[in-house]
Amino acid sequence: PSPRPLLGRRVLITAGPTHEPIDPVRYIANRSSGKQGYAIAAAAAAAGAEVVLISGPVDLRAPDGVTLTRVESARDMLDAVEAALPADIAIFAAAVADWRVASEGGQKIKKGEGGPPPLQLTENPDILATVAKLGDDRPPLVIGFAAETENLLANARSKLARKGCDWIVANDVSAAGGVMGGDRNTVHLLTKSADTVDVESWPLMTKDDVATALVARIARELEVHQS
Ligand code: C5P
Repeated sequence: PSPRPLLGRRVLITAGPTHEPIDPVRYIANRSSGKQGYAIAAAAAAAGAEVVLISGPVDLRAPDGVTLTRVESARDMLDAVEAALPADIAIFAAAVADWRVASEGGQKIKKGEGGPPPLQLTENPDILATVAKLGDDRPPLVIGFAAETENLLANARSKLARKGCDWIVANDVSAAGGVMGGDRNTVHLLTKSADTVDVESWPLMTKDDVATALVARIARELEVHQS
């Protein structure tokens, strides 16, 4: 196989958490180090792709050869993703906050005698589902992630159907595995073709190796569809 199998392809990747402001000093967020998404960006760039990485706040530097856009909230992330389309492949590794505070305060909320303030939450846009359901601008290969603490494969299968994506990378993030913030990951790749879903279970690997294997799997898919 070619050492640069993604040459000439444009790959869009989301990574990291989003921060949803409560007031100017507080936010709601998901737990995410961004390591897996950044590793995929690095592997795709090494495979010759033009990579756009759209990242929530994380403590990582941009991999070589990757164009990095930093965002805070889910709505900013969606805007940045839409601005980065079209793409040949889109990989949604970000841990997007499901909710944001309905009316963000312009001033710091004071601790008072009235007790803790009630927070009215509203749903964030689903970036993966939005892109997977686009018409002309839909990338030909749309890949989501499913981080679950139980019923991993069943949840991943229903996510594949519900979100309208082509593949799901499912990983078990229950505490025992140490995936969150760690350097290793055990994943299952669910791929949809026509009406069937195939499941490949990969062994425990470093996040860098998961990234390399995913990029190799993408390259193989593109090759099959070309010949
Ligand atoms: O529904 P759930 O959050 O478990 O789905 C996970 C997948 O959906 C991930 O690929 C994640 O990046 C994506 N997602 C998204 N926008 C959201 C929520 C999830 O892109 N608001």
